Amino acid sequence: MSQPKTYTRLDEIRGEAVLGGGRARIEAQHSKGKLTARERLDLLLDPGSFEEIDLLVKHRCTDFGMEEKRLAGDGVVTGYGNIDGRMTFVYAQDFTVFGGSLSETNAQKICKVMELAARMGCPILGLNDSGGARIQEGVGSLGGYADIFLRNSIYSGVIPQITGVFGPCAGGAVYSPALTDYIVMVEKTSYMFITGPKVVKTVTNELVSAEFLGGADAHASKSGVAHFTAPTEQGAIATMRRLLSYLPQNNMEDPPSHPSDDPPDRQDPSLDGLVPENPNQPYDIRNAITRIVDRESFFEVQNRYAPNIIVGFARMAGRTVGVVANQPSFLAGVLDIKASVKGARFVRFCDAFNIPLLTFVDVPGFLPGTAQEHGGIILHGAKLIYAYAEATVPKITVITRKAYGGAYCVMSSKHLRGDINYAWPTAEIAVMGPRGAVEIVFRNELKAASDMDARQAELEASYREKFANPYIAAERGYIDQVIHPRETRARVNRALDMLNTKKDSNPVRKHGNMPL
Ligand code: HXC
Repeated sequence: MSQPKTYTRLDEIRGEAVLGGGRARIEAQHSKGKLTARERLDLLLDPGSFEEIDLLVKHRCTDFGMEEKRLAGDGVVTGYGNIDGRMTFVYAQDFTVFGGSLSETNAQKICKVMELAARMGCPILGLNDSGGARIQEGVGSLGGYADIFLRNSIYSGVIPQITGVFGPCAGGAVYSPALTDYIVMVEKTSYMFITGPKVVKTVTNELVSAEFLGGADAHASKSGVAHFTAPTEQGAIATMRRLLSYLPQNNMEDPPSHPSDDPPDRQDPSLDGLVPENPNQPYDIRNAITRIVDRESFFEVQNRYAPNIIVGFARMAGRTVGVVANQPSFLAGVLDIKASVKGARFVRFCDAFNIPLLTFVDVPGFLPGTAQEHGGIILHGAKLIYAYAEATVPKITVITRKAYGGAYCVMSSKHLRGDINYAWPTAEIAVMGPRGAVEIVFRNELKAASDMDARQAELEASYREKFANPYIAAERGYIDQVIHPRETRARVNRALDMLNTKKDSNPVRKHGNMPL
């Protein structure tokens, strides 16, 4: 038998490449409380499943002495591996190499895995930690960004695209994440901004910290750019893995099923008392959601942004559903600009990826006032209508209390092709709330009344009796069934069984013209 050959050169090259920017820079990364690109991939992917591509790629820049600094891998680790046994494509920017900045070749590596992901019909996950366009490369790096943006855009709605932000993300580095479906940020160590604090100071004379300008907190609660945050990198990676567990591999497949021991017909008597007697008293709609879906399965998205609407994934008898719910405990669940946009984006994601929609309605209407009107509530509210109207996935609606005015129409009503529309006996479906309605319709009568307040109360009670209930809508077939709250889980599960074979489509067109 011949002696096994040793490939010393290959081993040396590989060894060097794996070290990225070298041990000192790896230590510097650790000292900031950050992991390296490879350590992050180790946590993200199932053990031993990572297959690297383009480990030996080097940049081709010769300016500014760059020919002396040609490191194998060029600042991004790319390849494929498994998450919970499912094939996934990944890239992780390596901050130890030129600050993870994007070169022409670095972009080519990312585009290669994106194209493979699209061709194989698998999700693509990016772990970002980058100083933006590599300054020494000029237009080569700018072009690289544009090449990535193109792929983010044309694969949108084809394969799930998820971004983890694990360090600075400046300049071009923020737009690729923004084009993906979900962004997960790490608290205190990750930042996203178009221009950092120094440029802000120069241009606007505003003094601001990186954290305040573009930290995880700002993007989770103020801008809505981040969908999830976690206190640690490990937590952020666990969030990415959990998110993926609800999603299909691509737009031609159904989401994976996760069998549950929670009986599909489980009744929950506590739901019968959830909606308070007083129609103006708030309650937390999460208490309905978590008691109706499979135990422990609710996974909220953007939980700190526009809390007057709740969106998130859950499972019903093991099937993924997208939950959209007005939240009466915040601003009475009113629909404002932020809530409309948050809801619309989530509905469109679910529709693109074959995820049935389960909508809970308790909404007093759209928020009135100059700030909302001048901010474009007409346009932004229309996004939510558009998203529900064009969605062809199974759509189940449960009206728990108020469905007033335009908000009745918007929230997955029968008229927007809601498949099964339930109402609890506490539902109030009317053009507007009793007080406003009485003040408009009986204005003259109220003026003439000897006791205006007593007459107002009387008229409101009669309005409520006549209009603020689910029965008129049910008589017209706009509500398919008025149900006891306790039986909601069982009813929704039966409806999902029935809708399993749903086929629906929209007229052929290049694309619609959503009111952006
Ligand atoms: C080349 C870069 C770089 C970049 C960082 N480095 N950013 N090299 N191009 N864009 C290098 C640094 O020179 C340094 O190298 C190493 O990476 C680590 O950077 P530090 O500054 O020491 O790290 P830190 O203090 O943690 O600060 C990180 C940072 C900062 C906040 C990202 O480096 C920074 O502000 N970089 C520039 C960000 C930026 O403005 N990028 C361009 C955006 S324009 P050495 O060898 O010294 O250790 C853009 C246009 C695209 O992206 C538009 C498309 C729409």
